[in-house]
Amino acid sequence: MVKPRKTETGEGIQGELDVRHYDRMMRRMRDKGWIETREILKAGIDRGVALEVGPGPGYLGLEWLKKTTGTSLKAVEISPAMIEVARRNAGEYGFSGRVEYVEGDGGSIPFEDNLFDAAFTNGSLHEWAEPQSVFREIYRVLKPGGKYLVSDLRRDMHPLVKWFMHTVTKPKEIRPGLRSSIAASYLVEEIEALLRECLPGGFRVEKKAMGLLITGTKAG
Ligand SMILES: C[S@@+](CC[C@H](N)C(=O)[O-])C[C@H]1O[C@@H](n2cnc3c(N)ncnc32)[C@H](O)[C@@H]1O
Repeated sequence: MVKPRKTETGEGIQGELDVRHYDRMMRRMRDKGWIETREILKAGIDRGVALEVGPGPGYLGLEWLKKTTGTSLKAVEISPAMIEVARRNAGEYGFSGRVEYVEGDGGSIPFEDNLFDAAFTNGSLHEWAEPQSVFREIYRVLKPGGKYLVSDLRRDMHPLVKWFMHTVTKPKEIRPGLRSSIAASYLVEEIEALLRECLPGGFRVEKKAMGLLITGTKAG
């Protein structure tokens, strides 16, 4: 029996020290080649101007830029401390001219309608205070025919996967953040019910080993 969802707590990655720890962990994962851009590319998100919601230290979007040509990225991030780190990382990649980090809430995206060719976000959904507003906003700013991909943890992940994630989450000071993130994450059925209320349809929710994957296309 899966426990009921517990809204993300202050134990998430919020303080500046946590941001530094999180950056170090994600950098280590990047160095091991574990930043997963495959699903994004497989979904046909490989050209034009993309939106990322909640980029954190930025590695996912930066790796996507590295694997695509002629692309650019605008990222909306709620934490100023994360934005500072992401900008520094973009500079290291030599991509400062291809990515723009904007402070803001995914529930109120500071861009006009029908602007983006695609949108993606990873590991952020469980933190959204109003997930339906964020999905509506992503849909609004996409061009007709634009694709979106949202990936996140899921509460019912296999205990072995949970154990694996626990061991790679270092330093151990950020492990409470992983636990609260898993507890705040959704089940596939919960997300399907939530999306049915806020999107016109055409989405797909898949169960993956590490979490869940939502993909779809804005009606053209
Ligand atoms: C666990 S981190 C994931 C970061 C990165 N996407 C990754 O895959 O490593 C979640 C990020 O989402 C951001 N976030 C949470 N709620 C948000 C919101 N409503 N709008 C924009 N960003 C948000 C957090 O500040 C944090 O940087």
